[in-house]
This record gives sequence, C-alpha cells and structure tokens, in this order.
Amino acid sequence: MFANLQPSPADPILQLAADFRADPRERKIDLGVGVYRNDAGLTVIPKAVKRAEARLLETQETKTYLGLLGDVAFSAAMIDLVLGDAAPVERLASIQTPGGSGALWMLMSLAASAAPGATIWLSSPTWPNHRAIAEGVGLKTRDYAYFDTSTGAVDFERMAADLKAAKSGDMVLIHGCCHNPTGANFSAAEWAALTEMALAQGFTPLVDIAYQGFGDGLAEDTSGLRHMAARAPEMLIAASCSKNFALYRERTGCAVVLAETPAAARAVEANLKTLMRISISMPPDHGAAVVRTILADPALRAEWESEIAAMRGRMLTLRAALAESLRARTNSDRFDFIARHRGMFSLVDATPAQVKALREDHGVYIIGDGRMNVAGLNESRIDEVADAFAAVGL
Ligand code: LMR
Repeated sequence: MFANLQPSPADPILQLAADFRADPRERKIDLGVGVYRNDAGLTVIPKAVKRAEARLLETQETKTYLGLLGDVAFSAAMIDLVLGDAAPVERLASIQTPGGSGALWMLMSLAASAAPGATIWLSSPTWPNHRAIAEGVGLKTRDYAYFDTSTGAVDFERMAADLKAAKSGDMVLIHGCCHNPTGANFSAAEWAALTEMALAQGFTPLVDIAYQGFGDGLAEDTSGLRHMAARAPEMLIAASCSKNFALYRERTGCAVVLAETPAAARAVEANLKTLMRISISMPPDHGAAVVRTILADPALRAEWESEIAAMRGRMLTLRAALAESLRARTNSDRFDFIARHRGMFSLVDATPAQVKALREDHGVYIIGDGRMNVAGLNESRIDEVADAFAAVGL
C-alpha cells in the first residue's frame, strides 16, 4: 500500500524547532516556534492554570463523555471572551475543538462541505498551516497582499486592491490580532473598511484569533473583530487557548460561526457535530475544563489576566530594547517597526542566505521567511541578537 508513498514536506516551523533541539551549541537562541518564554527561557504553566487544575483534580468525579460539542460552558465563556455581546446569541453556533488548528480544520471543512471547491483568501504571508489545512480539506486558495517590507506596516491599499476580487461564496482569512508571521496589525479604521468590503462584496470573513491578550490587551485585541461581528451577516471565528492560557499541548480551542439566521445557525451546529464525530469523535476535555474554571471564577480570572498582562508587558519591553539596540548597531531607524509590532512575532526582511547565516554562524534561529519570535528573546542577550543581525548585513 505504501510502496509508492513519498514523504510529505515537513512544516517549516516544527522542522526548525527540531533543528534547534539538535544543535549542540550552548549559546544558541531560539526565536523560532511561537511559544512564549519567560526571562529564564521557560514556558511555565500560569499560576491560574495550576490552581484550576488542582481544583479539577479534587472536584471532578467522572470522565464520561460530554457530547459532540464538548464543554458547552467552555464555549459560552470563550464566546464571551472573544465576542462579548457583539453578536446575537441566536445566530451563533460553536464547538469545542482541539486547539486553534482544530477550529480552523472544523471551519474550513464546514465551508468545504457547504460550498465544495470554495475559495479562501490568505494574507501573504500567513501562518503555513492556514494554507495546509485549506488545501487539505479541498478549498482553493488565493493570496492577498498584506505586508509592506519597507515600512514594516500593513499595506492596506494593496490588500484592498487584491480583495476587490473576493466575492460572495469566498472566505477571507483575517488574523484577529498579533498577525502571524508579520506582527503588523490593522488600525480601527482598517477593520472598519474591511468590514464594509465584506458587506458590499458578500465574502465571509474567517477570523483566526490565536493571541488574544498578547497585543494591546484582552479587550483591545478583539475590538476590530467585534466591530465586524456586529455588522457581518456571516462570520467564522477560530479561537485558540494555546498561547494566552499557555495550554499548548492540551489542545484547547473553539470554533464559532455567526450564521445569517437562527435556523442556519442550528444547521451549522448539526454539521459541526457531524464533523467532530467523523474526525475525532469528541474533543479532549482537560484544557477546556481549565479555561472554563478560570473564566468562571473572578479570583482565578483576575490572576490569569494579570499573568497575561505581565507576558504582554515583557514582550513590549523586549521589542523596545531590540529596536533600540538595532538602531545603534545599524545607525538607522529601519528596525523601529519591531517596537510598533504587537504579539510574539515580527517579520524582518531577511534573505534566505541571511537567515541561514544567522543560524549557522551565530546560533540565532528565526523562521526561513524572516519571522522571529520576540518572546524567545531575553534582555541579557538582546545585544548579541542585534550584533548577529548587523553581522549578516540586515
Ligand atoms: C507558531 O506559529 O510558531 C505556532 O503557532 C506554533 C505552530 O503550531 O506553528
């Protein structure tokens, strides 16, 4: 059966993580995979998560199945966290998913079964798994311009020009905040303009929000998508708890669909249940139970919010310090965009040869497209990274 099977290409981000692990050099620096690290380089479990886990261990009496939708109280809490009351509950359908990727798979599969061969527009560049999942479920993909490498900002004009061709029946994938890989994000006016385009042209936005709280704040990071949800007849949302609850391997996320009518929402829910049943039957419980416990308890929630604020603050400090160090090294302000970006990532305009030289000559690992994970930095090593950037001619 497998005699003619060729190996499939490795995901570039996960491949780099494996390469980093295999590198014996002691002073290597991992700015690759999107995992938050503290100053000691550790991805710690937040205290609020630990406390919620202890509570669950003590109080949980059964592990019997919850049902195809998973933990519905978790999904309701996630809808509240992401959407607030921006969208009418009766037009919403949701399902607990294994991580943000699980949510993307569910939503794209739903679209592929509702509209076989439909087109999904992806930002250029985007997270590689977006295209992989879209192609994997049989959607067609098209790209829209997003990033201006000369300014480090969103190129909204070119984006809007490309998206002129997006029509009713197409989906447009939008990063809710903290764009991966660029770090450049929409202004409120750009969210409003994009919303108007969706309304006028009839395309369906699919918002991937995987870093809520890592940009400007939990509420601030959703203001654009809430504006859109309050107006769009249809919208899909994939929310991840991997980063903001640091639940990475627990695979915790939620798929939300805003349908045109309450009846359409019920049909969507039935189809989401079927997709769950035929893929993994039921979503894993633990991470969702932890998130539900935290969000429902004012003290735990306050603790989690302060832990997220600390992570966000650390990333902003690192951004400012790296931009300043690069300013001194390069005698120019061309890296100032690093301080303006939000979230874990910034895209630097590096050639493949420069990315290779950073890795091979300096032990600094960034993704091949030039994405670096700012949260992998450490204050004591900022100058080293800036020196490496300068040495490879960035
Ligand atoms: C990333 O973009 O590095 C993270 O989302 C991890 C992943 O799964 O790719």
